Amino acid sequence: MSSIHKAGTFVLGDRPTRRSGYGAMQLTGPRVFGPPRDPDAAIAVLREAVASGVNHIDTSDFYGPHVTNELIRRALRPYPGDLLIVTKVGARRGADAAWLPAFGAQELIQAVHDNLRNLGVDVLEVVNLRCMFGIHAPAEGSIEEPLTVLAELQRQGLIRHIGLSNVTRTQIAQGRAICEIVCVQNHYNLAHRKDDALIDELAGDGIAYVPFFPLGGFTPLQSSTLSEVARDLDATPMTVALAWLLRRSPNLLLIPGTSSIAHLRENLAAAGLDLPQDAVRALDSIGARPGSA
Ligand SMILES: NC(=O)c1ccc[n+]([C@@H]2O[C@H](COP(=O)([O-])OP(=O)(O)OC[C@H]3O[C@@H](n4cnc5c(N)ncnc54)[C@H](OP(=O)(O)O)[C@@H]3O)[C@@H](O)[C@H]2O)c1
Repeated sequence: MSSIHKAGTFVLGDRPTRRSGYGAMQLTGPRVFGPPRDPDAAIAVLREAVASGVNHIDTSDFYGPHVTNELIRRALRPYPGDLLIVTKVGARRGADAAWLPAFGAQELIQAVHDNLRNLGVDVLEVVNLRCMFGIHAPAEGSIEEPLTVLAELQRQGLIRHIGLSNVTRTQIAQGRAICEIVCVQNHYNLAHRKDDALIDELAGDGIAYVPFFPLGGFTPLQSSTLSEVARDLDATPMTVALAWLLRRSPNLLLIPGTSSIAHLRENLAAAGLDLPQDAVRALDSIGARPGSA
């Protein structure tokens, strides 16, 4: 196993989950649509992640669509007992690869059954309701109807735990009045820190915060400060960016995405990287000064 145990665990739902996980979205074809050019390479990345100690994989049946879930099933089934696969529903893909809302009751029920079938499981451990009031950033809108549908599927035993994604503080409060919310998955990284206060509030309530785009997503992080800190520590900028996130809060769980084994190893190395105080101060300043990243 790699050094990933050094980052410790956080209880997600009811499972101690390693804070260094993996996001599967990069395993599809371009624009998160269609199959990858080399499915065997994608399978190798998934197997390497688990062999390195990763026990938290983030996915969705709308990646591909169906592609990442099918790859996960092919690569990892029978699943290790401690592996937590977290999926999400609430969106669908257009024929042109567009990201469209899918909040209707029948669409949500269908999505849960698609995830169960394509992952090859009887129960989904964690399902995030991915809100689409804004596609790229949270926007207000009631989540009562779609979340009530998921809560009913939870009562039926098809879902063990429920989380929320791309949500505002108001939506989290509304959601917690309907059912237990075990995690929030929003856009956050070294340079994009709108959720700073929210992360601390969720930590106080024992709720996991799982940043998507931890490396900047489709436009990877670029910062001269980050590069300088990385050079001083003899690490890569991406390893440093993830080490900063691990240090940010104990309820923060990483799911960086990559289609490359070399990048996967760099990302997992974050758990073993100690950031000295002066490095932390320099990295903190990236998000504190808008436009400096
Ligand atoms: N809830 C949501 O709305 C939502 C939205 C987006 C993503 N997600 C989830 O969050 C996960 C993480 O987000 P993400 O994958 O979009 O973005 P990300 O982890 O911020 O960055 C991924 C990008 O960085 C590159 N990369 C990864 N490791 C690298 C390294 N060590 N050095 C250089 N480049 C590296 C990847 O390319 P290579 O393949 O070449 O490494 C890819 O282009 C996704 O996989 C998905 O599971 C959720």
